[in-house]
Amino acid sequence: MDDWTLTPDVMSIKFPTPEEIVAQLDRYVIGQAEAKKAVAIALRNRWRRQRVIGKIREEIYPNNIILIGPTGVGKTEIARRLAGIAHAPFIKVEASRFTEVGYVGRDVESMVRDLVEISVNIVRQEMSRDVEAKARKFAEERLLDILLPVEKGRTGSEVQGGEQPVETTREKFRTLLKQGKFDDRTVELEVTRQKMPLIEVFSQAGIEEMTVALEEAFGSRLKGKRKKRKMQVKEAFRYLQNEEAEKLIDMDEVISEARKRTENSGIIFVDEIDKIAGGGAAQGPDVSREGVQRDLLPIVEGSSVMTKYGMIKTNHILFIAAGAFHNKKPSDLIPEMQGRFPIRVELSALSEEDFKRILIEPENSLIKQYGALIATEGVTLDITIDAVEMIAKIASQVNESTENIGARRLHTIMTKLLEELLYAAPNVAEKEIQITAEYVNKKLADIVSDVDMSRYIL
Ligand SMILES: Nc1ncnc2c1ncn2[C@@H]1O[C@H](COP(=O)(O)OP(=O)(O)OP(=O)(O)O)[C@@H](O)[C@H]1O
Ligand SMILES: [Mg+2]
Repeated sequence: MDDWTLTPDVMSIKFPTPEEIVAQLDRYVIGQAEAKKAVAIALRNRWRRQRVIGKIREEIYPNNIILIGPTGVGKTEIARRLAGIAHAPFIKVEASRFTEVGYVGRDVESMVRDLVEISVNIVRQEMSRDVEAKARKFAEERLLDILLPVEKGRTGSEVQGGEQPVETTREKFRTLLKQGKFDDRTVELEVTRQKMPLIEVFSQAGIEEMTVALEEAFGSRLKGKRKKRKMQVKEAFRYLQNEEAEKLIDMDEVISEARKRTENSGIIFVDEIDKIAGGGAAQGPDVSREGVQRDLLPIVEGSSVMTKYGMIKTNHILFIAAGAFHNKKPSDLIPEMQGRFPIRVELSALSEEDFKRILIEPENSLIKQYGALIATEGVTLDITIDAVEMIAKIASQVNESTENIGARRLHTIMTKLLEELLYAAPNVAEKEIQITAEYVNKKLADIVSDVDMSRYIL
């Protein structure tokens, strides 16, 4: 693409600063400051590059990052939260799901095809927001035509002069429609049938080729047949509005913008990258691991991938990889791959103090989650700070005595701790239940002190 006009997502002055990105991540992920910082800089750099004028811009490549750290310390969590704040097409894939070309499974290029698909959806949504008012208006007219059919040869909007009454009735209907007075009425609408879900089944072989082949085989039947369906006015309105919006949107424009965004600000998060590292004990279907790396390499290095929307250059797509590298090292990746991820950030193991904060602080913290669940039964759950500290301590202990699974330990402990309460909540007389350190102890101490038992239960 040689048209470098700047797009709103990357040009907006509101693009978050590294500090703001970190603050956003802080709302969900405790600690791991290094990782957050690296990711924030990388994100901001994409935006900076878009603002660079002149040839040098083409020379500025993203610095891909690899996040390394033990299991359950927040690698995937960072990725998940990033999706919401990246202001760019973003996709998270698991490296372990790919296989070398020629084997049964997903080929690596599909990540680029999926990314551009996501980008198209984002842009289409933005554009339908722009035409929303117009689409509503058209949908309203069509719905009025259905609710108040006019005689053949005339349409409602063409009525003039002597036929005033029809127009007035139409306006009356319009008012009623807007007030929602027809919401429960059923109308019959001609709808386009959904594309055959069949295609999904073949997606592993590449959606593109399959769609083309099927379309040839089945002709337009696949593209959607018109069919009458009864539905409530409310639903019909939504349907018509969508259909009208679709007509108002210039798909070529959507695609061109979506491609530009994919190429210039797209981000691919490759999780579990250690799973495709060779090294050490080769067990199971090891054949294709290095093959997957070799397939992945050109994409990370920069190449063109054929998609349904045309060729996509991957040179400026940002890659962030993550892996536990439990009994492997980043140096087990093929050298070329290591070179493609120049920034390495280590995430640290979580301490007892971290656990305490993880239980309380994040906006989706476990304590808040369980509190919300139990509240639906009309019961208030009050977990005292002493109890939280006790849970954190136990999590830490069990991680040490059995296996360190990081913050995931909190999940197993919390379910065990609250099991009885979750069972009884609908019937308890007490509407406010306090969980104290003593309660935690009573429930868990026996299990914790017996390592064998903790292995199975916690
Ligand atoms: N630093 C943290 N702050 C808040 N929650 C965390 C943190 N680390 C882990 N968690 C929670 O623990 C669970 C597991 O974390 P996550 O999926 O990020 O692990 P991971 O580092 O990707 O591990 P793995 O290497 O096994 O994939 C998630 O529910 C997450 O919310
Ligand atoms: Mg993970």
